[in-house]
Amino acid sequence: MSFDLKTYLLIKKEKIEQFINSYFNPPIIPLILHESVLYSLTAGGKRLRPILCIASYEACGGTEDISAYAAAIEFIHTYSLIHDDLPAMDNDDLRRGKPTNHKVFGEAIAILAGDGLLTEAFTVLSNPDYANIKPHALIDVISEISTASGLRGMVAGQAYDLIYEGRDPDAGIVELIHRYKTAAIITASVKSGAILAAADDDQLKKMADYGLCIGLAFQIIDDILDIEGSTKEMGKPRGSDAERGKMTYPRVFGVLESRKKAKDLIDRALNALEIFDHKAQPLREIAKYIINRTS
Ligand code: IPE
Ligand code: IPE
Ligand code: MG
Ligand code: MG
Ligand code: MG
Repeated sequence: MSFDLKTYLLIKKEKIEQFINSYFNPPIIPLILHESVLYSLTAGGKRLRPILCIASYEACGGTEDISAYAAAIEFIHTYSLIHDDLPAMDNDDLRRGKPTNHKVFGEAIAILAGDGLLTEAFTVLSNPDYANIKPHALIDVISEISTASGLRGMVAGQAYDLIYEGRDPDAGIVELIHRYKTAAIITASVKSGAILAAADDDQLKKMADYGLCIGLAFQIIDDILDIEGSTKEMGKPRGSDAERGKMTYPRVFGVLESRKKAKDLIDRALNALEIFDHKAQPLREIAKYIINRTS
């Protein structure tokens, strides 16, 4: 039977969104914070990171419903986007097809919504009641995700991204930026699924390699879409990187070579999955989707 990625993504997305909606009912007070958080969380992202977490969990033989823990990763991702768009950072006005959080709620509430989402993710991850998972596995996941998001992960990457605005193209630096700002959380999402499924060391290593490769490729394609994509399809403004003189792959290598690098990374990601059986098919299809995506 052939595998239908579109249906798979839709089903997983729905599960994650079900959790998000139930989690914020009853609402957070003050209500303005609730509205700001839900505004960004329900604006309709692709939910790629939580889907990767679930797909990796299932590839490693997991059978529980882990959508709560997966959704916690989406809380962190959404926080990173709210802060990324702030005037002090990328200063963007459009996200997920809607005005950015600070445009609607003001900078102060947008900052707090981001802070709240980051913190709340760990409230969810440290709650053992969502699925039958061994406590030590949850602790390992918390360690994985907090490291990938924090000063040794995404936050460091965002700092590099800002520091190197307007500087001369540098291949080593752009890889460093992409590794930290984007690939770290994507790798942690994939690894977390494997940890929750009690994967062995070999499986975990392969999942980490898969995650790093698709994570780097994901950001390379994001950079290319910033040049060639459609604002309408992406739901965020094309040309933002050029406007701010960002150190991107196309700026360092050109679009053609960047695309080739992304493709090579996807081939490496697929190789890393060779030890897994048919249950890893969604991960294989997601890897291929990443280089063909238009949003
Ligand atoms: C955007 O991530 C930020 C990057 C790391 C490139 P996504 O492209 O996954 O954004 P959403 O969640 O679908 O909106
Ligand atoms: C963002 O990179 C990475 C994050 C950690 C949010 P970008 O600044 O390129 O993401 P977009 O293009 O605004 O989504
Ligand atoms: Mg940015
Ligand atoms: Mg940005
Ligand atoms: Mg971008």
